Amino acid sequence: MKKIAVLAGDGIGPEIMAQALKVLTAMKLPFEYEEALVGGAAYAAFGHPLPKEVVELAKRSDAVLFGAVGDFKYDTLPRHLRPEQAILGLRKALGLFVNLRPAVCFPELTAASSLKPELVSGLDILLVRELTGDVYFGQPRGKRISPDGAEEGFDTMRYAVPEVERIAHVAFKAAMGRNKHLVSVDKANVLETSQVWRDTMIRVSKEYPEVTLEHMYVDNAAMQLVKAPKKIDVMVTGNLFGDILSDEAAMLTGSIGMLASAALNEIGQGLFEPSHGSAPDIAGMNIANPLAQILSAAMMLRYSLGMEEEAVRIENAVKTVLAQGYRTGDIWSEGCKKVSCSEMGDAVVAAL
Ligand code: IPM
Ligand code: MG
Repeated sequence: MKKIAVLAGDGIGPEIMAQALKVLTAMKLPFEYEEALVGGAAYAAFGHPLPKEVVELAKRSDAVLFGAVGDFKYDTLPRHLRPEQAILGLRKALGLFVNLRPAVCFPELTAASSLKPELVSGLDILLVRELTGDVYFGQPRGKRISPDGAEEGFDTMRYAVPEVERIAHVAFKAAMGRNKHLVSVDKANVLETSQVWRDTMIRVSKEYPEVTLEHMYVDNAAMQLVKAPKKIDVMVTGNLFGDILSDEAAMLTGSIGMLASAALNEIGQGLFEPSHGSAPDIAGMNIANPLAQILSAAMMLRYSLGMEEEAVRIENAVKTVLAQGYRTGDIWSEGCKKVSCSEMGDAVVAAL
């Protein structure tokens, strides 16, 4: 019996999570599910976005299925109490240093992209983002008074060589399983952290002679992603650049509501979440797109539970409902059947 921690979170989290659970339950998998509050929901109930019990639950689970956290009403809280700390805290506590963010353009949805169809049709990028280092976690950080008396904020961008090495190996291995072309993104023309990143990537590349390693400055990478995205296959980068570029890559597909992501640690435990956020503006309206959450469940089966066949079964069901013309509002176009969040979940169950 595998144990799954179910952390739906805030905003649309609970309603899309309900659809993913509907799909998993319909498949009668040998799982025990344990739900808990995180993010704003946990703050409201217990005064903390990531209660200790939830960290313990995540640690003793085989995988974490995560919804989304965040709501405008918590934006004025001190940083350590904001909903976002739930996801940052879980990444750190579980050592989830690998973030796989695929950006795949589903053929039926090509028209939803803001780029011309010929630029994105067939797009399939795997973004590998380092998730537990960089300026997100670097110390020292804070606010202080500068020598000339001005209040200032400061953060520390840093990467140690072993941290870069381990994400490099993940990226090179991913490239070996795909087109054997790896783009490493940095800002080595300006930042020392990036020079360490680049030197390490070059060193690790010697162990993967079949993979072509290309370096790109982050500003150029942002441009190439909208200019010729199909030239990119696997892209690896640090935490901050990866945060920014993964949203850009996701939007190329026209449907951020379709994209799942995986965060993994050294022992294969993982946290699986949609690439989109909590969308508090449409929460509770039963109109959100649950497919990214459902596809996150598929990623969980593949990467943490070794259930490739079952993962493919979910992915095929999602392809089927798209082919059948079912669309939630975010991906709807003329001639398609507009469905609610729960109807979409039902359609996927029917297509299994
Ligand atoms: C993401 C999100 C998070 C991040 C936030 C919610 C802390 O933007 O997963 O990309 O910045 O990593
Ligand atoms: Mg982000």
